[in-house]
Amino acid sequence: MLRQATALAHPNIALAKYWGKVPGSDNAPAVPSLSVTLAGMATTTTVIFDEGLAHDLFELNGASADEPSRQRVVALLDEVRSEANLSLRARVHSRNDFPTAAGLASSASGFAALAVAARAAAGLPSDPAWESHLARRVSASSARSLFGGYVELPAGEEGQQRFLPAKPVAPPGALPLRVLVAVTTERTKETLSTRGMNHTAQTSPYYRAWVEHAHRLFARIRAAVLAGDLEALGVAAEESALAMHASAIAAAPGVIYWLGVTVEILATVREMRSSGLGAWFTIDAGPHVKVLCAPADEARVKKVLEAIPGVLRVLIASPGEGARRVDGALL
Ligand code: DP6
Repeated sequence: MLRQATALAHPNIALAKYWGKVPGSDNAPAVPSLSVTLAGMATTTTVIFDEGLAHDLFELNGASADEPSRQRVVALLDEVRSEANLSLRARVHSRNDFPTAAGLASSASGFAALAVAARAAAGLPSDPAWESHLARRVSASSARSLFGGYVELPAGEEGQQRFLPAKPVAPPGALPLRVLVAVTTERTKETLSTRGMNHTAQTSPYYRAWVEHAHRLFARIRAAVLAGDLEALGVAAEESALAMHASAIAAAPGVIYWLGVTVEILATVREMRSSGLGAWFTIDAGPHVKVLCAPADEARVKKVLEAIPGVLRVLIASPGEGARRVDGALL
């Protein structure tokens, strides 16, 4: 007996960053975060429950994934199996239509698509909030990719295992935006987010300050999105990224995600602003820089970014829709 379903999800980029977990929790974030889901790039995932299998298989972009990634997939499948009272193992085929080294976490779109495809393949009805909760327990940023547009993921609470999904804040059109990804290297990052944030929480004297400040930044960013105020959003998003990185840099030993070209891009973005062009940066756990601007400024900002020595290419995304089932299958 085969049971299968396919789903698609987009990556998301955090404007208010998640960095740090509630100790002893089921991967609940220590700070609230807010992201925008990005159209134009997607992960498609097919899940096939198959009685001929002795264990779960996970293929990413046509090749067997590494064991830690497979374990995360198994963790999510186990949740779905127990909900559906199913014992079958699954084959999971996942494909990104954007390069892994693009500086956009394929894990976010990957686990969001997996949550939708796995529950559908198990015969369970669609439930984006529950799927978001399941994805969050495996990788918190992926909880936000279940929804389209601007999306928040609240902080968890200590000593409490509870239902904690992301939730939509505003639809894609609420604040017209372009996100330009300045790709700085083909190498994949050295310190994965999970390790980087746990190390920051354990050793950085600035971690506590970051957690306190992150709540205030989140409130400003949320208000800016709801007001449709790109400038207020951009300013606060820069502050969130820099405060997150400051906490990581102050860890022992410091976690430094930036390359020389990363800093060049930050300086150039600020020069653009001084010359009257509205552009703001944000940076995740890697050296690439994502630049926010109004749709009308996209071409000018792209040109300036492409001229920076060391920028390999510039990808463009705009606010998009949440994770959803699609026809067809990856086999
Ligand atoms: C810097 O969601 O990858 O991209 O929950 O441990 O899997 P885990 O972490 P992950 O962390 C993302 C960190 C970030 C900021 C963000 O997306 O909010």
